[in-house]
Amino acid sequence: MPLPKAELHLHIEGTLEPETAFALAARNGVTLPYADTDALREAYRFTDLQSFLDLYYALMDVLRTEQDFADLADAYLARAAAQGVRHAEIFFDPQAHLKRGVELGTVVEGLWRALGRSEQNHGVSTQLILCFLRDESADSALRTLRAAEPWLDRITGVGLDSAEVGHPPAKFREVFRAAADLGLRRVAHAGEEGPPQYITEALDVLGVERIDHGLRCMEDPALVDRLVRERIPLTVCPLSNVRLHTVASLAEHPLPAMLDAGLVCTVNSDDPAYFGGYAGDNFDAVRDTLGLTEEQLRTLARNSFLAAFLEHDEERRQR
Ligand code: ADE
Ligand code: ZN
Repeated sequence: MPLPKAELHLHIEGTLEPETAFALAARNGVTLPYADTDALREAYRFTDLQSFLDLYYALMDVLRTEQDFADLADAYLARAAAQGVRHAEIFFDPQAHLKRGVELGTVVEGLWRALGRSEQNHGVSTQLILCFLRDESADSALRTLRAAEPWLDRITGVGLDSAEVGHPPAKFREVFRAAADLGLRRVAHAGEEGPPQYITEALDVLGVERIDHGLRCMEDPALVDRLVRERIPLTVCPLSNVRLHTVASLAEHPLPAMLDAGLVCTVNSDDPAYFGGYAGDNFDAVRDTLGLTEEQLRTLARNSFLAAFLEHDEERRQR
């Protein structure tokens, strides 16, 4: 029986397995520039975040219809459930779809076809977090938030992702303020490739409640003290960090040091189709390679439920 856990850092577009990419390409008459799934898998050798993002955005071209998004999400939820995930807070990247002429309604309604039935079908409760692409303009983020207003009853919060370095959180001050005014929860990727100051800025300028990744906090002892004191959860993604060379190897991952420092860490999969594993695979990897104890694994799982926005649905029902 896998340990029950919540997944708090999962990009739905990052669950596009090569087989699904080819199936959707055939369904939608899209030609992929790869001979077959093996050739596509060969392309999954990344040197850094940007080299991954280039493929991640290119492959989204196969996602066209509501049914495509529904099938993608349903396949993820089935896999996640099999690995012990009981609650999933799912990121999506609307700007990447709008740019290709796919409407926000297609994305949200499609995802909702799967998410709306997930508790019955998979035993997984779900929430949606709309992410802004930090390498797009602040104006584009604001327009995206406005475009999402008809679907806010299905969206729990906003996040910030894509190429980090050179795109500090403060660039998105206004849109995060507007999101807070709409009652949305706030998270942001910070300290994945970017410096520790981006983590501080995400907390102080954007008012985020969780930091996605946050690894580079370990370079700043005063920041670690703050994160521990304020119990700010970090959604760590070990296999992602290895594949994107944010850490030299899994054996050198700072997760044990982060736990020893008292940080509220959780373990997540980020983009499991690209990085070699879903939530349970990430737990297995840190147990096997980093020698985490059963007690530490239980702490990670407990942290995931403590850090989740689980009260959100209840609040919404009462509104
Ligand atoms: N978008 C999808 N995965 C991401 C990651 N690991 N970092 C930033 N943006 C992303
Ligand atoms: Zn991510």
